[in-house]
Amino acid sequence: MQPITISWCALALALTPFTASAQTLAAADMRPGRSLDGAWHWSVDPYRDGVAGFHGGPPGESTARFQDRIQADEAEKRPNALFEFDMQRSPVTHLPGSWIGHAPEMRYYQGLVWYQRTFDWQPAGPGKRVYLRFGSADHAASVFLNGKPVGKHVGAFTPFAFDVTALLRPGSNQITLGVDSARTDRDVPPPVTDWETYGGITRSIRLVTVPETFVDDAFVRLGRDGRIAVSARLLGPQAAGMPIRLAIPALGAALEGRTDGEGNWTASLAAPRALRRWSPDNPTLYDVEIAAGADRFTDRIGFRTIAVQGDRILLNGKPIFLRGISMHEEELGKDPVRAMSPAATRALFAEIKQGLHGNFVRLAHYPHDEGTTRLADEMGLLVWSEVPVYWRVAWDDADTLATARRMIAENIRRDRNRAAIMLWSVANETPVSDARNAFLRTLIGDVRALDDSRLVTAALLSTRQGKVMRIDDPLVADLDVMAINTYNGWYSDDPLAALPSFEWRSPVDKPLIFSEFGADALHGYHDAAAAPHKFSEEYQAEYYRRTLEMAARVPFLQGLSPWILKDFRSPRRQHPVYQQGWNRKGLISETGQRKLAFAVLAEDYAKREKAERRCPSPNATRPLPPRDPRPCP
Ligand code: GCU
Repeated sequence: MQPITISWCALALALTPFTASAQTLAAADMRPGRSLDGAWHWSVDPYRDGVAGFHGGPPGESTARFQDRIQADEAEKRPNALFEFDMQRSPVTHLPGSWIGHAPEMRYYQGLVWYQRTFDWQPAGPGKRVYLRFGSADHAASVFLNGKPVGKHVGAFTPFAFDVTALLRPGSNQITLGVDSARTDRDVPPPVTDWETYGGITRSIRLVTVPETFVDDAFVRLGRDGRIAVSARLLGPQAAGMPIRLAIPALGAALEGRTDGEGNWTASLAAPRALRRWSPDNPTLYDVEIAAGADRFTDRIGFRTIAVQGDRILLNGKPIFLRGISMHEEELGKDPVRAMSPAATRALFAEIKQGLHGNFVRLAHYPHDEGTTRLADEMGLLVWSEVPVYWRVAWDDADTLATARRMIAENIRRDRNRAAIMLWSVANETPVSDARNAFLRTLIGDVRALDDSRLVTAALLSTRQGKVMRIDDPLVADLDVMAINTYNGWYSDDPLAALPSFEWRSPVDKPLIFSEFGADALHGYHDAAAAPHKFSEEYQAEYYRRTLEMAARVPFLQGLSPWILKDFRSPRRQHPVYQQGWNRKGLISETGQRKLAFAVLAEDYAKREKAERRCPSPNATRPLPPRDPRPCP
């Protein structure tokens, strides 16, 4: 076969390293734009013939999926030409949504899939630029527009965008994506996780139009000094020395200034007395606008402070107990495709907020969709946000560290205006070693540099001596809040009755969150025996009762995010009777049916909520009362 070498092809598809998105496009979902969600052609490419020829060179004309043409027309013009693909006559699916849902045979497919669609476009006019923005792509995406390479992104859970102003044309445009879900031990996360890989495009695709000089990044927050601070960055030819103005109309607050030589502006003002601080009970959001030249950056932002004081977590200066649960990004239903529409997220958040009387959610184990963190702002759920530095990461690999650092920055820059987010977590259940400690300390340093208004944590493991549980991970010294995943009674043969007698010891005076505990239960499997079988609803319920008894005896425990709200897909869970490819630790089944344990946790949280309301936590400026679990006087 004589591949026809297309000069830019080697550039585009030689799996070039990550093409950094130079911009942030903060609050891009609030900007005017054009959705490219909807009908796309799709075609599998298991041996990646669209990426490389049979001897490894560039793909030939017969297999390069991104060529700017109507395949059938070309074949008509050149009957002797050989084409072994035709994107325009390939099947059609709806994006966003993982390819798992495209067809039954895609259930366990992991590899490369091509997508293509056309769209009509009218020029945005002078002084404008257009970005092609993806909410995310799992795991590596190569993007082409009208047959030209646009760029590539690696990492399944953060947004990325490319300036396509010069590539768009009036009339019909053709966009082609190559999405590859395969991961290696050097990736973040590595190949082995306890959740499904939802390969493909699982979040929205949009064309976002901005003025050629625009507010690319803006971080607006209430500082612990009682001042509202703004850090903004302009991008474009007039970014330097540009007059700029921040306004919060509902507060009658405004700040004016001028960007510096690099297009940056920082300023602050005393928080107006009328400011209503954001909290789970009062999730007040304000319209915030930043005007700079022709650009109007807008966002809806809540103002609150988060801090630690001794072994307490303070929200707006008052101690708070986090009544939470963990959650994967997976919608209700028997065949989820990780298409988390606002309605899908709201259905799950309602179970936390109203069903469980919760005020907190751990969005595990990776950054969730931006619509999810916005909804947490609106509904009043505090959020633990994390990057998928999970289990066995290649701690010694410089590229792996660079990938993790980029993910941290992409996640924080996307979401640091979300009042609901209170914790940035840098890792989950990672084995202790010098290389791992150095790797995670680098990430912690990045978090603190990007956002000094929130707390840093990581889900750690404890050690055990008999019934004494020790928190002795060296990383504790670097965290604001300790978090432990603990499963005594599930991943151990301890009798459930023994759980409340476990004693927890901490080497430091810091708050602790039980970031995970849980037990599997198949909804509808009941075992009335005095000692019910694991996987029965009765076992899970008793496990929760006993673990909550243990939790109530830990004086420095300030939050719970049990594992997990909903049963979720995991290829690691293949018991033919109880699991069938699902991790069954949910308090609700995959179709939303509540298990017995749901009521156990809900009752505990309702009592805590009632006690909180009857005895509002004292203002932290006064000495805290002794820890007294009995009803307040
Ligand atoms: C671990 C891990 C989770 C996993 C859970 C389980 O703690 O963090 O991702 O699903 O245990 O075993 O169910």
